[in-house]
Amino acid sequence: MFIKPTVIEFNKIGNPSLGYISVAEVQDNIAFEIKRVYWTYYTPDHVQRGGHAHKNLQQVLVAVSGIIELTLKDTKGIEYFYKLDKPSMGLFIPENYWRTLKFSHNAVLVCLASEIYKEEDYIRDFSKFIK
Ligand code: TYD
Repeated sequence: MFIKPTVIEFNKIGNPSLGYISVAEVQDNIAFEIKRVYWTYYTPDHVQRGGHAHKNLQQVLVAVSGIIELTLKDTKGIEYFYKLDKPSMGLFIPENYWRTLKFSHNAVLVCLASEIYKEEDYIRDFSKFIK
């Protein structure tokens, strides 16, 4: 099956006077076993990050603070654009999507990942990715 990127709307438990909790939970709204969690922060707003794809890794990204603009490209060169601008929103990224990311100065990205870190899983050369 060809799996596509999918926006996840997390539940918001709470109300404006108390604040909210959103939950990412395996077998509920996360389709893989989470083996790794990482987060990025203090990214200057003129920097573009990413510039790679993954052979096997699946991820869910959440901008828990700030705004993250994300472009995905599939192996046919078709582009998908996402703006993660609320902490109740996640983006599931399957394997084999080229990604570039831009961050607002206050953005904090949390990534739930299906695999432990392996540099061999990265495709960092776009011409190899398109092949
Ligand atoms: P990378 O995934 O290329 O960052 P980005 O896509 O945000 O630009 O990772 C940047 C560096 O951090 C790279 O040297 C690998 C290292 N790194 C780890 O050691 N472990 C990890 O879990 C991650 C995500 C990155």
